[in-house]
Amino acid sequence: MAKSIGILTAGGDSPGLNAAIRAIGKSAIRSYGWNVIGFRDGFRGLMQDRFVRLDSEELSGILTIGGTILGTSRVKPHKMDVGGQIMDMTDVMIENFERHHLDALVCIGGGGTQKNALRLADKGLPIVTLPKTIDNDVWGTDRSFGFDTALAIATEAVDRLHSTAHSHHRIIVVEIMGHNAGWLTLGAGVAGGADVILIPEIPYEVDRIAESILARRTAGSTFSIVAVAEGAMPRRDADTDDQTSGGDTVELSKALEERTRLESRVTILGHVQRGGTPSPFDRLLATMLGTAATDCIAKDRSGVMVAVRDGRPTTVPLADVAGRRNTVPVDHPWVVTARQLGVTFGD
Ligand code: F6P
Repeated sequence: MAKSIGILTAGGDSPGLNAAIRAIGKSAIRSYGWNVIGFRDGFRGLMQDRFVRLDSEELSGILTIGGTILGTSRVKPHKMDVGGQIMDMTDVMIENFERHHLDALVCIGGGGTQKNALRLADKGLPIVTLPKTIDNDVWGTDRSFGFDTALAIATEAVDRLHSTAHSHHRIIVVEIMGHNAGWLTLGAGVAGGADVILIPEIPYEVDRIAESILARRTAGSTFSIVAVAEGAMPRRDADTDDQTSGGDTVELSKALEERTRLESRVTILGHVQRGGTPSPFDRLLATMLGTAATDCIAKDRSGVMVAVRDGRPTTVPLADVAGRRNTVPVDHPWVVTARQLGVTFGD
């Protein structure tokens, strides 16, 4: 019998989401003859039963488009704001799933979505997830789609900042996204030739950074590019209990100006890193994982995230993924390489 499946996208948007929706939908329709619907705005749409039928026409022409045609939200099924009251709405979501006689729900998201999906799976919903996030911090997969695109944007920014930093003999501190993982900053820092790279996994000391900038000056380089992850923090903060947010990039820039007596400017890349068309790599990854999710449902498998390992799709139990984070090992080859080139991590 033809199955019916639902798709939702949750958490921060990320390039490649539409490629994944298209791949799940097209393979479900073409290879298996199933019905596909998409819930709008993540778990909120599932709760409110706002959905759209995803037929071939809806799925056409979206491969290259950034964002998500379904919309997204950061709500948590067990803690929803309903008319000002925080309520557990998982049962309502299950009712809506059943109302549509769905055989499976594909939840596409980052770390938070994996946790939320597990909550619904534990209540009996047949769920398959996909890992997407520019932060690349979902545990259990070699890559999350969105990361490659964001890495290209952040790298181009670091490239472009070089000529203006060089012309004005300035320090430029560029803040890069990534939540509490340093992948994006480390990748863009190494690929863009940053002189200082600050990531959450390696707490920094401002004095160390200032010393390295002054050493560059003495050696004849009159500018420095500091790539700082939004979640990077000074050692004094890392040693306290409050490690939820990163250090202040503007403060860091001021502290470097004071210590080096060189002019410093701040660039915060922000959401530009998440917007626009996905890179070919992210389109490929999202498409491969999307069709693998459909195959998984065809085999009646659920409670898993479809991940990529050594270039091939695989599945990981959701229970293993939820609540874990893929952060940068401090001895990662990108860190070792950067250190060999004289890049300072501020430690
Ligand atoms: O998780 C993706 C991400 O872009 C993080 O890098 C960043 O910390 C966060 O989302 C920003 O979230 P929002 O778009 O909700 O401000």
